[in-house]
Amino acid sequence: MSWWRDAVCYEIHPRSFADSDGDGTGDLRGAALRLPHVRRLGADAVWITPFYPSPLADGGYDIADHRAVAPDLGTLDDFDALASTAHALGLKVIVDLVPNHTSDAHPWFREALAAGPGPGRARGRYLFRAGRGRDGEEPPNDWRSAFGGPAWTRVPDGEWYLHLHAPEQPDLDWRDAEVRADFEDTLRFWLDHGVDGFRVDVAHALFKAAGLPDAGPGQHRDPARNHLMPYYDQEELHPLYRGWRALLDRHPAVPGAVAPEDRVLVAEAAVFEPARLARYIRQDEMQQAFNFAFLEAPWDAPALRGVVDGSLAATAAEGAPVTWVLSSHDAVRPPTRYGSLLRARSAALLMLALPGAAYLYQGEELGLPQAWVPDDRIRDPLWPRSGHRDRGRDGARVPVPWSGDRPPYGFSSAAPSETWLPQPDGWGALTAEAQQGDPGSTFALYRAALRLRRTRPAPGHGSLVWHSQARASYLAFERAGLACVVNLGPDPLPLERTGLRGRPVLTSAEGDGTVPAAREALAPDTALWLLTDDMEGDGRAPH
Ligand code: GLC
Repeated sequence: MSWWRDAVCYEIHPRSFADSDGDGTGDLRGAALRLPHVRRLGADAVWITPFYPSPLADGGYDIADHRAVAPDLGTLDDFDALASTAHALGLKVIVDLVPNHTSDAHPWFREALAAGPGPGRARGRYLFRAGRGRDGEEPPNDWRSAFGGPAWTRVPDGEWYLHLHAPEQPDLDWRDAEVRADFEDTLRFWLDHGVDGFRVDVAHALFKAAGLPDAGPGQHRDPARNHLMPYYDQEELHPLYRGWRALLDRHPAVPGAVAPEDRVLVAEAAVFEPARLARYIRQDEMQQAFNFAFLEAPWDAPALRGVVDGSLAATAAEGAPVTWVLSSHDAVRPPTRYGSLLRARSAALLMLALPGAAYLYQGEELGLPQAWVPDDRIRDPLWPRSGHRDRGRDGARVPVPWSGDRPPYGFSSAAPSETWLPQPDGWGALTAEAQQGDPGSTFALYRAALRLRRTRPAPGHGSLVWHSQARASYLAFERAGLACVVNLGPDPLPLERTGLRGRPVLTSAEGDGTVPAAREALAPDTALWLLTDDMEGDGRAPH
C-alpha cells in the first residue's frame, strides 16, 4: 500500500518553528534540531512551507527564486541536512511549490517591468493587459484579489498586471512554454535534493479562462461557488498535473528519499464541491488534496457528517483517499475557531479516526489557541488590504513554545521583543516540554491517537460504517476495528444509544488521560475511541 494513503503529515512553518542562530526567526537548522519532537509525536512526514528567498510580502509565498534558500533561513546545505535528518528519523519530506505567482522581486518580473508595454517575451510570462475605459484607466476586468481589492495593478507605463493575491505576487501565464519548463526544472531540482513530494500552492488557480471574462458580483463570498469563477478550477489544470505526476514517477531515484512511484503531490485547491475537488486526485494526477470543507465546517454533527459522507463518496469514485485537515498557517487555530480546547481535542479524534490521510500544523498538537498580535506587529497583507478589518493569519503563525514559562519559550535565544512575531504571556503550560510527561496533555492525546491509528490502517473509502443517524447530534462510526463517538449535543450521551460495543481506549476529555468505562455517558463536546475487535477489560464484551 502506498504510504501517503493514510499518512499523517506535520506542517512546519520554518520561521515560527525553531530558531538556531538567535536572530528571532526560525530557520532550517532549528527545524532539523526539533524533528525528534515530530518523530515522538508519531507523524509520517513533514511538509515545510516556503523557505525560499522572498521579500516576505506574503509570508514567503512571494518567491524571488524558486531554487534557493532564503539567507535568513539557511543554505542549501542546511536544507540537505534537514532532509537527511528527517529521513534518518523515518520522516518523509514534502516542500511547497508555488507556481501561480512569483514575487515582484523575481528577475522575470523585473525584466517584464523594464521591457515596457505590448507583446514580448518578458511580459508574456505574466498576465499584462491594457486597461478598459477611455485611457485604459480602469482594470482589464472585474476580478477581485483573494486578499481584498482589485486583482489588477497598473504600472507606470499604463499596462495592468494580474495578481490574484497581493500586488507583490504577480500571476504567471501558465500557457507560456517557458514558465512551464522552468517549473519542471524546479520540481527536478528539489527532487534531486531528496524531497519526497510537493504541496502545490493555490493549485486551482494557475489557468485563467481564455479572454479573461468578468466574474460578476459576489466573488470570494461563497467558497462553494469557487469552481465557477473564471480564474479558478479550469480544465487545463488537469493535463498539467498529469504531466507533473509523470515527471515525479520517472525522475531517477534519490538516495534517502522514497522510490519514484511513491512520491506525492498534494493540492492546495480551494474547491469545495467534492466531485470537483476529487478530479485533482484522479489515478494519474495528484495523490492528495486538502479537504478544506472539513476545516471550514461548523461544530455541528449533521454538517460534519455531510462533509465526511460527501468527501468519502467523491474520492471513492476516483479510488483516492480523503486528506483531512483541521489546521494550517492560514486558518484560525482550532481551540479558538471551535470555541474551546475540548472541542478542538474532540475534532482531532474525529479527524484521526476517519479513513484516509491527515495533515497537522505545528502547535496543533500542543492545543495552541490563536494568539493576539498587536496592530503594529502584524505582517499579514490581509490586514492593510482589508482596510484593517481582517487581522489576518499571524495569530496562527507566532513562534512555537518549546520550554520555559515566558517568551521566547525556548524558540530562540533572542530577546522576547525580537522574535519575528511576538508570543503571548501565559503559554508556559502549553510548551512541548510541559506537555511531554503529562498523560492528560494535548500532546499525549495526539501521540496516543497516532499510535493507535497506526495499528488500524484505513487507507481508503469503503471502510467506514456509521452508527449514528445523519441528523443526530452526535457522530458515531467504526472503521477497521476502531470506533469513534463524538458528542456535539448539549446533553450527556449514553454509549448504548450508539449500539457500539468495544473497549474505550482514548478520550478527548481534559484531565489526567484516564479513559472512562464504556458504561459512563459521554459528556458534551467530548470524543471517545473504542476498539471494537478487542474487548478485553470491559464488562460489555460479548465473549
Ligand atoms: C496559499 C498559502 C497562503 C498564501 C497563498 C498565496 O493559500 O497557503 O499562505 O497566502 O497561497 O500564495
